[in-house]
Amino acid sequence: MIHRTRRATPKDADVAQALIGAALADYGIVFEPDGRDADVRLFGVRADHDDFVATIDDEPVGVVSVGPHGDEGVAWVSKLFVARHARRAGVGRSLLRTAHDAARARGYRRIGLRTRVVFREAIALYESEGYRAVTRDPAVLESGDLVFLRDL
Ligand SMILES: CC(C)(COP(=O)(O)OP(=O)(O)OC[C@H]1O[C@@H](n2cnc3c(N)ncnc32)[C@H](O)[C@@H]1OP(=O)(O)O)[C@@H](O)C(=O)NCCC(=O)NCCS
Repeated sequence: MIHRTRRATPKDADVAQALIGAALADYGIVFEPDGRDADVRLFGVRADHDDFVATIDDEPVGVVSVGPHGDEGVAWVSKLFVARHARRAGVGRSLLRTAHDAARARGYRRIGLRTRVVFREAIALYESEGYRAVTRDPAVLESGDLVFLRDL
């Protein structure tokens, strides 16, 4: 499967919403685009973020977002999701590397992300890309979240 990666536009918020909703449902996680997860509506919109869509034959199969997170010099990856039927073909790694390149181009020196312990495939990907878990906070670990960081 040959995939391409393009920059997202505001029209891709629906794409992100559909891909993320479907993936989270697989894990039994409730997705709330009208509530807690409302920032999905900003996919492809924010000037201080670089958002990308991966496609196969023009069909969107994956998304990723990278942008600021409060710590100067540290970019934050979010919304890395690949449609189930397109997984394990290199799309996720390619999206993540595209996010790294975009963050480097904006001058970031480090990059991080928050994920959940149940996202085992994602954790394997992050570790294989040099990310290391930094969370030691019991409250955070108890919530099932993990924070990963690496240099760019
Ligand atoms: C994580 C995710 C984005 C990976 O996308 P993908 O296109 O399948 O990833 P790739 O094909 O590029 O795989 C990259 C690496 O991830 C790891 N990986 C992916 N799927 C895996 C699996 N089922 N088991 C073990 N490792 C896996 C491997 O290290 C793999 O490298 P390899 O194929 O050379 O062994 C995808 O599985 C997904 O959308 N998962 C659900 C959503 C999610 O967890 N998102 C992260 C939220 S923070």
